[in-house]
Amino acid sequence: MFVRIIQISDLHIKKNKDAILYNANPRKSLELTLEQLLKEKNDFDILLLTGDISDDGSLESYEFVLNLLEKTNKMIYYINGNHDNKNNLISKFSKSIYFRQLDELVINNWLFIGLDSCVEGKDLGFLSNIEIQKCESLIRKYDNSKYNIVLVVHHHLLPVGTPLIDDCPIINSTQLLDIINNNRQIKIVITGHVHNDYSIPINELAKLETGLSSFAQFKKGGSNEVEDIVKGYGYKIFEFTKDFYSTSQVFIKN
Ligand SMILES: [Fe+2]
Repeated sequence: MFVRIIQISDLHIKKNKDAILYNANPRKSLELTLEQLLKEKNDFDILLLTGDISDDGSLESYEFVLNLLEKTNKMIYYINGNHDNKNNLISKFSKSIYFRQLDELVINNWLFIGLDSCVEGKDLGFLSNIEIQKCESLIRKYDNSKYNIVLVVHHHLLPVGTPLIDDCPIINSTQLLDIINNNRQIKIVITGHVHNDYSIPINELAKLETGLSSFAQFKKGGSNEVEDIVKGYGYKIFEFTKDFYSTSQVFIKN
């Protein structure tokens, strides 16, 4: 018996329904992502949106996502990314019984903690003292070997080897790395932002797991914003058993 979570990330939906970004239509790609998901993996438990839900922060973009993803009839947990407008995001999504901002979520013996790494007007990530303290106090609250911990945050904390994105990670990641190294129950840090699927060891126990974008991927190792974009949609699948997890991905080039 396992819990299956589907990560959809970096949707970059715009106010204008015909808007094109990286030669793709993010709205159309999200529709195709959802179509594929409902066809192939309808037996999932939760959808996890790891930020950059909107590209322009518009209410219209959140309205589109809300109307589309509510069709799954599943709980949808989200965090914000550097392109999001947190006020607009929360004001729209709080109207839905399916959408919840990820703060603290316990599923079986897994604790998920959502952190906000965004700084207004900047692409890079930064964890404020408030976020660091929130993380530490939740870890203390569940200080019990029974729980495995998953941190969910938009920006990546280690370089992924793609110059296109490695110049805007969490710039104070050493604070987060200290927390991870001092708390052996932390097993995963799930992020968006890098527009591709990576699984990179942080220490001997914890891994950085990053998700695909639902419309355009940054080619692994790529540095060029025109040549190193791969159009295609998809999602990442996490399956959690009592003390282990596995991942797989669905990616369709278009
Ligand atoms: Fe981002």
